[in-house]
Amino acid sequence: MTIRKAVLPVAGLGTRVLPATKAIPKEMLPVVDRPAIQYVVDEALEAGVEHIVFVTGRNKGAIEDYFDRAYELEATLQQKRKAGVLEDLEARLLKPGAASFVRQQAPLGLGHAIWCARDIVGNEPFAILLPDVIVKAEKSCLAQMVEAYDQVGGNVIAVDQVPEDRVSSYGVIAPKSRNDRLIEMSGMVEKPPRDEAPSNLKITGRYILQPEIFGLLEDQGAGAGGEIQLTDAMARLMEAQAFHAYEFEGKDYDCGSKEGYFEAVLAHALDHAEIGAVARELVNAAK
Ligand code: G1P
Repeated sequence: MTIRKAVLPVAGLGTRVLPATKAIPKEMLPVVDRPAIQYVVDEALEAGVEHIVFVTGRNKGAIEDYFDRAYELEATLQQKRKAGVLEDLEARLLKPGAASFVRQQAPLGLGHAIWCARDIVGNEPFAILLPDVIVKAEKSCLAQMVEAYDQVGGNVIAVDQVPEDRVSSYGVIAPKSRNDRLIEMSGMVEKPPRDEAPSNLKITGRYILQPEIFGLLEDQGAGAGGEIQLTDAMARLMEAQAFHAYEFEGKDYDCGSKEGYFEAVLAHALDHAEIGAVARELVNAAK
């Protein structure tokens, strides 16, 4: 079955990048000339997704406005004959009816946020993209995963290697066997202490899951950090269904942290069509 819907949990408070996120959602921070969320939505669309489900929270209205028309702005741009800018704005709109917004009313964890999308997703396989993570790749990370999913079906999650001193910040998988980029697993664990991590393969923040995950999330107890963890529900789903990890080609940036955000801005500036040459000059001059 094709992956038509993608859930983007955007309710997080962005405390790691305060004060920048005090009055605007972290997903709206610009990475060169586009808000971070645009990269994530583009990745989903490139993979063939037709409908985006945003799981939002209080103070996230800017995301909704961003994907809507802005009549006054469009009229002004028309008057000023800024056709290029207008076209660019037009191209970034989501199609009418192709986005839904549902609120997570309390910060109970990622698993709970995903569960809030259950009625809109319904009974079909779907994707999840964590908006803190921007993946720079020739073919979008989710598009690579959809190709893998077309081969093996079931559930597919993206993983990549992380230095051992950082495993405790992520979900980590226990690999069993490997066929090229596809990995069979014997388990997964959320934020393990460094000496208990089953590998250095972290869960990147891109998932293709079967709808049975919702039933498991419904009664999932709190896990790491006292939150309802998606990883814990996936570990249970793995006992019942085919489940693969996929080591994607590309580089991911954790824009929820200051370092990751800066790295993402730098990487995207360096090969940007308009400002890339200047950015490279500046970086060389700073060496
Ligand atoms: C979440 C997931 C974790 C994953 C990480 C990727 O954690 O729970 O499994 O490795 O995203 O960024 P969070 O960053 O929300 O703590």
